[in-house]
Amino acid sequence: MAHWTLDQIPWDRFDPTRVDSDIVKLVKAAALVEYNGGDYATYLRNVFHDDDAFCAVAADWAQEEVQHGAALARWAEMADPAFDFDASFKRFTDGYRIALDVNASVRGSRAGELVARCIVETGTSSYYAALADSCDEPVLNAICRKIAADELRHYKLFYTHLRRYLEQEKLGAWGRLRVSLGRITESEDDELAYAYYAANHAAEPYERKRFSAAYARRAYAYYQPPHIERGIAMVLKAAGLNPQGPLLKPLAGFAVWFMRRRVARLSAAGA
Ligand SMILES: [Fe+2]
Ligand SMILES: [Fe+2]
Repeated sequence: MAHWTLDQIPWDRFDPTRVDSDIVKLVKAAALVEYNGGDYATYLRNVFHDDDAFCAVAADWAQEEVQHGAALARWAEMADPAFDFDASFKRFTDGYRIALDVNASVRGSRAGELVARCIVETGTSSYYAALADSCDEPVLNAICRKIAADELRHYKLFYTHLRRYLEQEKLGAWGRLRVSLGRITESEDDELAYAYYAANHAAEPYERKRFSAAYARRAYAYYQPPHIERGIAMVLKAAGLNPQGPLLKPLAGFAVWFMRRRVARLSAAGA
């Protein structure tokens, strides 16, 4: 059961004068990725096939992700009436598919899979919090706040199951760190770049480098230091390190510097 419904969004407060064109592009891309949550549920059901409790939780989780997609899609169609979500979603899933035909995690273990899920939820919770804090269009602001709260709950959910699996499987500190770093670097892979392309540039040929840059230039620009620091603390916790320990401040400082430099360089290059 989702914790909220589309009827709880104040759609009638939509204010077209407060719509930021870069945020519209990002929201369209996010809607496609979120709405594809059903595929991830299928994947997780295959990986955790004999764990009925987890499979039930994963089904509810996917329903919430799909609802995120539906809410964002509806807002994007209000902000840009020329946007056709259904056509864009078809284009996205025609060109981007995760491997569903598996019976074990691509992370090497179930604990590794759960570490990776925690990293994804860290990324989404900090992203929607950053968008909400940057956006004064009332409807999108309300949607992003609700989604950010869900993503934080998803992190806690996967973290709870991670602890259970760490008692059964051998995944040491190095293994957790390796999965965490691996999943972070994948954020620049095809999924987001292809979603950005399918939502915003369908008439042109797909070029991963170009659309990954266009996405990152816009998305990274909305993060403030507190979003980044909280995200780093969540990554440290998922990786089995002290979230408030001595690594937090230097890593957060580095991440702020890196993201700002990336936005500046991509802007200078016209991304
Ligand atoms: Fe989501
Ligand atoms: Fe989530």
